[in-house]
Amino acid sequence: MPMNFETVEVTTDLLIIGGGMGSCGAAVEAAHWGKKHGLKVTLVDKASMPRSGAVGMGLSAINQYLGVAEGLNTVEDYIKYVKHDLMGVARDDLVANIARHVDSSVHLFEKWGLPLWKDENGAYVHEGRWQLMISGESYKVIVAEAAKNAIGDENIYERIFITEPLIENGKCVGAVGFSVRENKFYVFKAKAVMCAMGGTVGVFKPKSTGEGAGRSWYPPFSTGSSAYFTLKAGAEMTCQEVRFVPIRFKDAYGPVGAWFLLFKSRATNALGENYMETRVGELDNWGKYGSVRPIPANLRNYLGLLDIKEGKGPLFMRTEEAIANLAKKYEGEPKAFKKKMKELENEAWEDFLDMTISQALLWASTNVEPEAKSSEIAATEPYFISSHSGSSGAWVSGPEDLSGGTDYFWGYANMTTVPGLFAAGDATGACPHKFSSGTHAEGRIAGKAAMKYILDNNTQVEPNPEVIAKMKETIFQPLALFEEHKNFSTDENVNPNYILPKQFMYRLQKLMDEYVGGVSSNFSFNKASLDKAAELFVFLKEDAEKLAARDLYELLRVWENKHRLWQAEAHLKAVAFREETRWPGYYFRTDFPNLKEEDWLCFVNMTWNPTNNEWSLFKRPILDLFGIE
Ligand code: FAD
Ligand code: ADX
Repeated sequence: MPMNFETVEVTTDLLIIGGGMGSCGAAVEAAHWGKKHGLKVTLVDKASMPRSGAVGMGLSAINQYLGVAEGLNTVEDYIKYVKHDLMGVARDDLVANIARHVDSSVHLFEKWGLPLWKDENGAYVHEGRWQLMISGESYKVIVAEAAKNAIGDENIYERIFITEPLIENGKCVGAVGFSVRENKFYVFKAKAVMCAMGGTVGVFKPKSTGEGAGRSWYPPFSTGSSAYFTLKAGAEMTCQEVRFVPIRFKDAYGPVGAWFLLFKSRATNALGENYMETRVGELDNWGKYGSVRPIPANLRNYLGLLDIKEGKGPLFMRTEEAIANLAKKYEGEPKAFKKKMKELENEAWEDFLDMTISQALLWASTNVEPEAKSSEIAATEPYFISSHSGSSGAWVSGPEDLSGGTDYFWGYANMTTVPGLFAAGDATGACPHKFSSGTHAEGRIAGKAAMKYILDNNTQVEPNPEVIAKMKETIFQPLALFEEHKNFSTDENVNPNYILPKQFMYRLQKLMDEYVGGVSSNFSFNKASLDKAAELFVFLKEDAEKLAARDLYELLRVWENKHRLWQAEAHLKAVAFREETRWPGYYFRTDFPNLKEEDWLCFVNMTWNPTNNEWSLFKRPILDLFGIE
């Protein structure tokens, strides 16, 4: 591997990092303001935008749409839904800001060519109260095209992995990274930076191992860069304990939403019992959240997990029963019945073909006919994704009109506590249930606010060249380490002088799985297991300095793992700090098995201090801005 890496410098006004849903929203909005004021917008993605990020393989639904203009819902309705789902822990202002803008993002998608399902009256077909059905195989291609058209191909840098933020006098002034295809080191200098590098997968040991390794629900290429970038910049973080454990069709992670909401399916255990009915009494143990409807996602999980623990699994989605119920009213008319059954079969397969193609392949290869037989569902490994039903991310300012004058506001919407650093999507915390559409809207909010920040603070701060030189050395050091020691042993995989990224990832995943409540420990832990995890973490972090790479591809894997490590550490610290169990279907503290509203109805926030390498954790109050119980 040659070690001569060319340095490429790019100077811009706004730097958008990531090419996913949040970034595409930011690009469209920032380009609009940029054109008005002569400001340049640049976007950098580690992959190729038309298929990058969580929407890359397509989606079958838009999960956040309020229908305010149609009189379907209000912003307050949505705040209530989100707050209840997260057991009281969410930011009113951020959720409201997204909710009031999300419908316009959906209308833009339609304008750009995304096919939304319509009924015979031309109204959107709803999957559930907030969800719209789409034919979304090319969803990301369409949204990325609009973003590309807005800022111009020449301002888009693809296949560049961003590793570090550039900070000068506490302000974010750019980022550095490397090309995953060429021997190039990139330095981006900017007046403001927006971070939207998605969530984190691969911190916990996945259920799919061996021949299924690499398969996960959230994309395996979401590797914690948002959390790493914001933490390393010194930003305050929130809800790092709130992971998401989705229930999915087993082994290929097919979505369940359409089955529960559109097809009105039941899930039952191996004895044919519906755990949502047989276990309903258990909900009384979770305060007022046990009586809200819909039942919070984590409590729904919890009831199913109780059945599994008692040996009543596997759990099944009763697809055959749901399809039969929907076709029932046509039973007297053979032709209409046949047509309806065909239509339902098509919808069942399209749900997966639009979004999780591997689930359709698994059905096909295991002779599943959804109209004839149930399919197994199961809890997955935990993920960090604040755009869905998790909540971990940076603590950002709210908009002035909603939270001005409170501790939720410090100047520019969606700016982190680091001046000049904005965030959106999976990168921001405490405003979950934004999904693809809400993330796009949040990106637009952040993009607009960042442009305002630039206009108010229009100076290009030059990053320290010595710091950049040191970063360059650190980024490529894993290649040098391998070259130096590769001949020490006869097998490159076994060498006392370095550790390869895959081995490192397995170690991290084993540690988190066994001691911090992964699948094999039944999502449970206590102080003793967390202490053990913290002890092993010290060794793991020491060895992170010895990560080695044989080529550029492995260098990418090295940095992905370094980023994951920080998300893992933030999570470990947060779950240790919160001495209660608040989301029992996501994790269970066996030493503090109950909800403690008086002590813990609050945010757990944290910072990592770049100057002394110390972490601090503290509580922040939850403000009630809309009078929502
Ligand atoms: P992403 O869209 O994931 O984008 C992250 C971007 O960052 C990518 O471009 C990536 O390449 C880039 N990146 C990452 N690391 C780096 C780095 N170090 N340097 C540079 N670039 C980097 N939402 C719905 O509305 N409806 C659904 O039906 C639905 N179903 C889903 C099903 C699945 C299987 C998944 C995975 C998600 C689903 N979602 C759904 C949620 C939706 O996809 C996310 O909410 C949304 O994509 C989050 O947007 P984001 O911008 O935060 O991250
Ligand atoms: S997806 O991201 O893969 O599409 P999923 O299929 O779980 O997620 O859910 C889609 C939407 O339906 C989300 O808004 C989720 O909160 C909601 N949902 C899923 N199952 C249920 C349920 N049983 N009750 C209420 N809402 C549900």
